[in-house]
Amino acid sequence: MTRIRCDRTATWRGLQNLFATGGQTFDMRRAFADDADRFTTFSQSAPHVFADLSKNLLDRETQRLLFALARQCGLEEHRDAMFAGAAINETEQRRVMHWLLRSPPPPVGVQDALASESALVHVVLDAMLAYAQTVREDDTITDIVNIGIGGSDLGPQMAVLALDSFVLPGKRFHFVSNVDGHELAAVLRRVKPQSTLFLIASKTFTTIETMTNARSARQWFEANGGSDIGRHFAALTTNVAAASEFGIRTTFGFWDWVGGRYSVWSAIGLPLAIAIGAPGFRAFLAGAHEMDQHFRSAALEQNLPVRLGLLDVWYRNFHGFTSRSIAPYHSALRRLPAYLQQLEMESNGKRVDAQGQALRFGTAPVLWGEPGTNGQHAFFQMLHQGTDTVPVEFVAVKKPRHDLPGHHELLLANVLAQAQALMVGQRDTGGHKNFPGNRPSTFLLLDELTPTTLGALIALQEHRVFVSGSLWGLNSFDQWGVELGKVLARDVQARLQTGDVSGIDASTAGLLQRLR
Ligand code: F6P
Repeated sequence: MTRIRCDRTATWRGLQNLFATGGQTFDMRRAFADDADRFTTFSQSAPHVFADLSKNLLDRETQRLLFALARQCGLEEHRDAMFAGAAINETEQRRVMHWLLRSPPPPVGVQDALASESALVHVVLDAMLAYAQTVREDDTITDIVNIGIGGSDLGPQMAVLALDSFVLPGKRFHFVSNVDGHELAAVLRRVKPQSTLFLIASKTFTTIETMTNARSARQWFEANGGSDIGRHFAALTTNVAAASEFGIRTTFGFWDWVGGRYSVWSAIGLPLAIAIGAPGFRAFLAGAHEMDQHFRSAALEQNLPVRLGLLDVWYRNFHGFTSRSIAPYHSALRRLPAYLQQLEMESNGKRVDAQGQALRFGTAPVLWGEPGTNGQHAFFQMLHQGTDTVPVEFVAVKKPRHDLPGHHELLLANVLAQAQALMVGQRDTGGHKNFPGNRPSTFLLLDELTPTTLGALIALQEHRVFVSGSLWGLNSFDQWGVELGKVLARDVQARLQTGDVSGIDASTAGLLQRLR
């Protein structure tokens, strides 16, 4: 597999020229007036997701060059290498196979290395779903407390909230991630040892926040009359030995080829499996698998993750936009922005390429957002009239799962109106009421929010991050940037106890002394 970094291709210079000679001043309103087919040309169906890309600063020629760029960079080969199980996470010498977690079991008789790994995946999946079923049927367990952080928290939390209307009544789900004891303490005030199941979710089973919370939960459990740790604690981890040392009998494992932020499809998804049951969880996996198939097989020109990822490159590296706002118009998707933040920024927030060479162009944008319509009454002012252009990604759902009259129509009217207002703007000589318009947005549309469509939406986002990371020449699957803080925290913790500030910078020393 040969990967060529985007800035080392001839097409990169072609795109720079295109940007300088028209891309920069592109007006989508004029483009719509000139091209009756613009909506069709710039929309794309993918499994369970329809995308309207037409309100972006993009024309046919730019798209053509972006597809050429992707081919020159070896995007297809890189994608195929991931799906072939090559060790594309070079800095950790690991394969990248979260997609295997959602593949159907291998057909009988197929006996290659991936087939035997897939068979193992299904053994764990079946066991985990059977366990989820026993928890669902156990009326004495009313509260499930997931203790985990990063990928071991954001995925299951986002998905359990998103699929709230599918959640089994009578079970309450709590997510504790922060080492700040206020978070765990608040949950512990609301639950009882005999009716609580603690899930200790940690790929490594060493993360300081999770281990600290897990130990405190166990202490609280024992101090408050809890007696059967085996029944009330389960672990979701690749480090089965550490979980058993902790005293946990029930463990669901996974593999080093599942990155933390890609782990909701693994045993880390157990809270979701308990919440929505085995058929629901399997539907979640199946929706993601359909998106995998689309990403693997659709031509680049009709490939939604590819089209989104290329747009991300166009905006970041040519227009110079430094952020993207995600606006889910569905209150159940309220943790989607946080989930996507980790996915995008931990994957592609890097300043050197996979060979360790410094990059001379920008990578991951800042990803942020809030559900609509709330965002409209907070930061949309800046999106419409601020000095910076921030591409917005709207997510809308056609059919609601409530029957309150009028609400959903109003919600959909708002999401359409916001995308329209960003584009059309408003001329006003007075200045303050002037909206420049021509502000880009992408519109992702689901028919309904179900386990299947959520699975497809999340897999879509994973693959679009793969696409931009691939063109940028990154290893999107490591996260060395989180390590330094962890090391320094250990040092600072010791200093907080002793008061020793020798050899550290004056600011940290000054603050440390005030905090003692
Ligand atoms: O913040 C770094 C990180 O390693 C994430 O990538 C990961 O999702 C999180 O910590 C939690 O790690 P673990 O599941 O091993 O506790």
